[in-house]
Amino acid sequence: MSETQPAGLTLRAGTSEDGEACGSICYEAFKAIADQHNFPPDWPSSEVAGGLLTPLLSRGDVYSVVAEVDGRVVGSNFLWENGTIAGVGPITIDSAAQNAAGGRRLMEDVLQRAEERNIAGVRLVQAAYHNRSLSLYTKLGFDAREPLSNLQGPAINQKIPGYAVRQATEEDLGACNELSLKVHGHDRGPELLQAIRQDIAHVVEHGGRITGYTTTVGFFGHTVGESNEDLKALIGAAPEFPGPGLLLPTRNGEVLRWCLERSLRIVQPMTLMSVGLYNEPAGAFMPSVLF
Ligand SMILES: CC(C)(COP(=O)(O)OP(=O)(O)OC[C@H]1O[C@@H](n2cnc3c(N)ncnc32)[C@H](O)[C@@H]1OP(=O)(O)O)[C@@H](O)C(=O)NCCC(=O)NCCS
Repeated sequence: MSETQPAGLTLRAGTSEDGEACGSICYEAFKAIADQHNFPPDWPSSEVAGGLLTPLLSRGDVYSVVAEVDGRVVGSNFLWENGTIAGVGPITIDSAAQNAAGGRRLMEDVLQRAEERNIAGVRLVQAAYHNRSLSLYTKLGFDAREPLSNLQGPAINQKIPGYAVRQATEEDLGACNELSLKVHGHDRGPELLQAIRQDIAHVVEHGGRITGYTTTVGFFGHTVGESNEDLKALIGAAPEFPGPGLLLPTRNGEVLRWCLERSLRIVQPMTLMSVGLYNEPAGAFMPSVLF
């Protein structure tokens, strides 16, 4: 454990009133570490970060925890608990209060919550250039599972012959869940259903059946496919790559090369980490940053 603890650091449940303070810390903390390494910030502004965090602070399927010192918010963390596997993040501690065990307290809190709820596994995506978060998560039991390349660029607009992409409907849910079960060992039905209802999910059909789906080809969506052709079809059909871009397993050299040859650029290296249940994927996939 760190020897220095921010004096009087306490944890409490987050509320939607914390959105502005947490958003501002989140933006500044990510920007500070990104600036140090000459990487672009993950968030364009404090308002955008606050706009994403505020609804999370009152969502039934997202657990939130806020750290305070002397009644002032100094950090926050989130556990996405709407599936078999929970996701962590974003976690941030005010730059002025970092490296003094606040991050460890916020991580231990969400891991304890996951244990209390008998969640089989917990995952997160880590900025690979950040030595401190990598060290902290590793010490807390997380293992690096997959190096990721965060890619961004103009829409590719390319169809893959024999692989038809269309918008997903609720009737597709069963086939998509089966596919996720086959590739990951568990389905991600609740978040897929949410994406279908927002009209942002797509499926790819090959040989008369669904062979891949995406909740969004971008930072906040996940994608599953039987083969690399399914991934290419879904990436090739995406009109844009929301947020900082998509997250492609770097070990998937074939699709990474395909993307790079079509003008996508690597924004930053990231790492998928997990503790507890993790099945080596039996197919092609792209994880989301949070859940
Ligand atoms: C990541 C973050 C939440 C961690 O919070 P923190 O309060 O700074 O970290 P802590 O002091 O609790 O823990 C750091 C741990 O890493 C260790 N550590 C730090 N740098 C290290 C290094 N280079 N090598 C080995 N260990 C290191 C510390 O000794 C400490 O270990 P301990 O808990 O066993 O004592 C915080 O730094 C932050 O908000 N960063 C910017 C945003 C961000 O990167 N978020 C995470 C995205 S993946």
